[in-house]
Amino acid sequence: MGDTEDRLDSEISTLLTEERSFPPSEEFQRLAFVRNGDIRERSWAEPEQFWANAAQGLHWFKPFDRVLEWDPPNAKWFLGGQLNASYNCLDRHIKAGQRNKAALIWEGEPGECRVLTYWDLYREVNLFANALKGLGVAKGDRVAIYMPMIPEAVIAMLACARIGAVHVVVFGGFSAEALRDRINDAQAKVLITADGGYRRGQILPLKHDADYAIKETPCIEHVVVVQRGNFPLRFKEGRDHWYHRLLEDADPYCPPEPCDAEDILFILHTSGTTGKPKGIVHTTGGYMVGTYTTTKYVFDLRHDDVYWCTADIGWITGHSYIVYGPLAAGATCVMYEGAPNWPDRDRFWQVVEKHGVSIFYTAPTAIRAFMKWGDEWPARRDLSTLRLLGSVGEPINPEAWMWYHEHIGGKRCPIVDTWWQTETGMIMITTLPGVDATTPGTAGLPVPGVRATIFNADRKEIKTGGGLLAVTHPWPAMLRGIWGDPERYKEQYWSKWDQETYFPSDGAKRSENGYFTLLGRVDDVLSVAGHRIGTMEVESALVDHSAVAEAAVVGIAHEIKGQAIVAFVTLKEGSEASSSVEANLKEHVVKKIGAIARPERIVFSADLPKTRSGKIMRRLLRAIGEGKILGDTTTLADPTTVEGLRRKYEEQEEA
Ligand code: WTA
Repeated sequence: MGDTEDRLDSEISTLLTEERSFPPSEEFQRLAFVRNGDIRERSWAEPEQFWANAAQGLHWFKPFDRVLEWDPPNAKWFLGGQLNASYNCLDRHIKAGQRNKAALIWEGEPGECRVLTYWDLYREVNLFANALKGLGVAKGDRVAIYMPMIPEAVIAMLACARIGAVHVVVFGGFSAEALRDRINDAQAKVLITADGGYRRGQILPLKHDADYAIKETPCIEHVVVVQRGNFPLRFKEGRDHWYHRLLEDADPYCPPEPCDAEDILFILHTSGTTGKPKGIVHTTGGYMVGTYTTTKYVFDLRHDDVYWCTADIGWITGHSYIVYGPLAAGATCVMYEGAPNWPDRDRFWQVVEKHGVSIFYTAPTAIRAFMKWGDEWPARRDLSTLRLLGSVGEPINPEAWMWYHEHIGGKRCPIVDTWWQTETGMIMITTLPGVDATTPGTAGLPVPGVRATIFNADRKEIKTGGGLLAVTHPWPAMLRGIWGDPERYKEQYWSKWDQETYFPSDGAKRSENGYFTLLGRVDDVLSVAGHRIGTMEVESALVDHSAVAEAAVVGIAHEIKGQAIVAFVTLKEGSEASSSVEANLKEHVVKKIGAIARPERIVFSADLPKTRSGKIMRRLLRAIGEGKILGDTTTLADPTTVEGLRRKYEEQEEA
């Protein structure tokens, strides 16, 4: 491979510069859990030492005798140690005098509210753990969970953990086929579901869909059904059981199963924006230490915080930062069942006001939707209890960051932009809120105990500038494999450079101060006139325009330039699409980042195709632009969006 090609394959041009910087307030710094950033340098020099200390925060039935065994690309953490995840999330706090502290503050979409103390949660997890045992579930067995966002979803996960069973949570918005495939992949023997759940005023008929799925899952022996409403369903005698009936007959105490640190805690399927779902395997010890530690460091949890992560438990963010991290840290967590715009567009802010939420963690896709809806919605509510905000899931455009900072954070809350993945299990790159100044759109530094850098294709380190993100040392919450596919594990994650370096498939750039900015998935990188440009930079230049709420750009084959940039743009409410807006937007991009990034074409659309977790699927936009067939669209949140867009695109082209 020649020099130019090498560069083309790895280094990414950096175009946008961002100079705004927001240090934490003195008060925030003074009270913060971490007040000195030196901890990072020390931890990077000796990560095993750092994690061994961090692990002391959890309860081990048997102490580990070795921190890390690294046989690339296979890592084992905390060898010889035994622990139980549910014990660490529940029993430990009860024994420490916190039984009456609220663990979950749950709000249903229709408006009902339930508060479960640590004791309540403990009691119900014990009962349900015994019920699962009664259905023949034993250590190592897989249990599928297909639930709405109700406390029983958390209870089901912790009950599995208590008996050493492996949970496989499938997002409740997925179809029957998606559920079927994941159950079969994991060979689950029990399915836990609900009669239904509420979403935007409608009922998600979970049991009904599950019935279709399990027609083709011979491995399922029993189905447990939580009664969320009074939704109609069919019951198959012998196979189907009401959750509440099972609890009536169960013993109130279930001894926690001592698990080896490397026993599997769960499998979670991820498809990202491309390809067949992979069952990502996470084990007990390392995952618990990683999520518990990052929860404390990054979210700065204090005893009286009310913490709300808006993710669904069907995603890794729900696993790590609704369930295991925060509960292991003894937090009070808000859990909300439904949509952000039901019954109105201020529902999230109403929840914040009502429960006095102090830490709020959400995704850029949601923030951009709030921006699009307008400033008046958050302005109606008292958001003064908030003290820390977080973002996860996609790069956050600087403009969306500023909006979040002003309209939600009241200009006083630090924002932690947390980069991580289903595979990493825990937050990997972000700022420490009591230490670091934040820069809009920029994630920050690797967290304590994590070594990450930026390489080009030859593994040459890029000190400042753009390239490929790399993790250069194992970390405790790392995936241990892809369920049933060890080859794909190696090939996908550990073969870009060498077997010791993890390749997350994201582009990133590093600024003078060492901060990492994520530039988007490398499969999406644009290649224009010999320059590789991250999608994030052009999109952020567009979102920077006052009329734009959201943008996705793709490169489409072009005779001269290699690729031409086509931008799909959603305008804020009150702005109208027109040829003058189009011309304006093109000029705005040129002004922000230069002529090289001028979009060839702009397509206005009320919606962009997204995965059900809210990530924009640029692959489909590219297919539209190139007139290709769309390929797999089963993970799309709303398949009609992409068909509508294609029609529009073709009409424009003819005109
Ligand atoms: C993207 C979600 C930029 C990234 C926890 C990653 C981000 C993928 C950020 C993983 C962020 C996540 N800034 N990009 N703060 N957080 N991503 O598995 O491309 O659903 O590889 O895990 O989301 O998505 P996943």
